[in-house]
Amino acid sequence: MTTGTPRPPLRSRSWFGDGGKNGFIARHHLRAMGRGGHNFDGLPVIGICNSFSELTPCNGHLRPIAEAVKRGVLQAGGFPLEFPAMSLGEPFLRPTSMLYRNLAAMEIEEQIRANPLDAVVLLTGCDKTTPAALMGAASAGVPAIVFTGGPMLNGRFRGRAVGSGTDIWRMTEELRAGTVTQEEFTEFESSLNRSAGHCMTMGTASTMACLAEALGMMLPGASGLPAVDARRGTLAEETGMRAVELAGSELTPARIMTRAAFENAVRINAAIGGSTNAVVHLLAVAGRLGVPLTLDDFDRLGAELPLLVDLMPSGRFLMEEFAYAGGLPALIDSVRDHLDPGAVTVTGRTLLDNCAGARVHDPAVIRPLTDPVLPAGTGTAVVRGNLAPDGAVIKQSAAEPRLLRHTGPALVFDALEDYLAVAEDPDLDITADTVLIVRNTGPKGYPGMPEVGNLPLPKKLLDAGVRDMVRVSDARMSGTAFGACVLHVAPEAAVGGPLALVRTGDPVRLDVPARTLDVLVGEEELARRRAAWRPPAPVAGRGWTRLYTEHVTQADTGADLDFLVGSTDSTPPRQAF
Ligand code: FES
Repeated sequence: MTTGTPRPPLRSRSWFGDGGKNGFIARHHLRAMGRGGHNFDGLPVIGICNSFSELTPCNGHLRPIAEAVKRGVLQAGGFPLEFPAMSLGEPFLRPTSMLYRNLAAMEIEEQIRANPLDAVVLLTGCDKTTPAALMGAASAGVPAIVFTGGPMLNGRFRGRAVGSGTDIWRMTEELRAGTVTQEEFTEFESSLNRSAGHCMTMGTASTMACLAEALGMMLPGASGLPAVDARRGTLAEETGMRAVELAGSELTPARIMTRAAFENAVRINAAIGGSTNAVVHLLAVAGRLGVPLTLDDFDRLGAELPLLVDLMPSGRFLMEEFAYAGGLPALIDSVRDHLDPGAVTVTGRTLLDNCAGARVHDPAVIRPLTDPVLPAGTGTAVVRGNLAPDGAVIKQSAAEPRLLRHTGPALVFDALEDYLAVAEDPDLDITADTVLIVRNTGPKGYPGMPEVGNLPLPKKLLDAGVRDMVRVSDARMSGTAFGACVLHVAPEAAVGGPLALVRTGDPVRLDVPARTLDVLVGEEELARRRAAWRPPAPVAGRGWTRLYTEHVTQADTGADLDFLVGSTDSTPPRQAF
């Protein structure tokens, strides 16, 4: 028990505790599964929300992890009940897994609320599964612990370590440039993913695992251990045991994910060189809880810590090295003076207490504050201007520094496909100074705000040896990607944001040190263009896509659905019979 106050009655008692017909109905079907007797005598019921799916390879190993969680629940005197969650796999889902993040979050929320659960363990892994679980758990208001499946082992290709995503982008560009053969590319494909787990760079999955831990929603050390490390099974057991202790307590997600916890997470995101996707996901989770987190917090709080973790795509190593170097607890302990000491976690202790004494075992991987990978203020920056009045983000550490202050002529495409159709054209009218703009790739416009903001470079420039250029879009980019990519432009073009008004040839100025992004066109001309602007035809869609496009918010507030923001409710729905 984590507080001195008496626990409220377990939620599950309103299902199983009734001696009459309703209790009978709730219990007798579980008896058909061999669960009976003492299970209904007041044991805490622990839901194990499993995002296992063979359509989500990163989560394909979660079944044995669920079994380990169950062992822990049983050892601690709980009653485990596993249930499936909608699973979101990056490799397959079209048009983008982000279109379905809010759907998965809704499904998780409703399943938790509608069922006889006293606490929940959320098994996640691939990029969107962790934020969806955090969002759903936040809204459901029942005590919850996240447990991610862990990263893959390092890729190994011809004697060197290779990282998910990051090396795919590199090798693809080299294949297009003709410096890598198709044979090498195929060999690389079979060398990259050597075990179960999610991407092992500091991409979005690793970032969100680390931030779930930094928020206090995971047991210490659970974010970094490789998926196949036996210690992960032990941690899964401990997670199940802890869930039993949490059942019926007041330590709900809202009590853990406070403003202080989000501030810590934003600072840690800077120190790990986390994905730009963390911005939109943390804003969405905070929005569910009514925590006042803003886009500018990422710039301001993120600038308080330098980049300390030397992982791809910003650095050299991979999650294996991070875990063996001490992982997140060691990092947190090394920057404890910069974190809010009051943030409480699922352990019932503070984040700093959890990590007290954790040691850095390899200072080349987790660098000391006195010798950072990059200085403070060089992480995710928020830029604004007449092209992005509500903000846009750029990951400075992933861009060639010379491009962080750049003015060049725009080359504008209204659709991603329009650009891809000419990207290989050797006569494309483009130079290394061009600012490449693709619009209508935002939450409503695509729809779903896909990871296309790291637009492939035009073949003409690749052949000339160019490996980075300024790209601007209302899309996202993979957390494993790199480049001078201005992302998440808000408002997006499809709702009439100024990105819709730029024309090919307009000078565009990016000044990251000054935090600005502007098209250098007079106000009168922009007003004329605005008057002539017509919204694109609504995205054809039915069912979820229609609901999503009608209600999704802009990137600067998390791209959640407007009617899901700002309230939680753990009350069991009324009994219908
Ligand atoms: Fe699942 Fe990268 S594809 S984490």
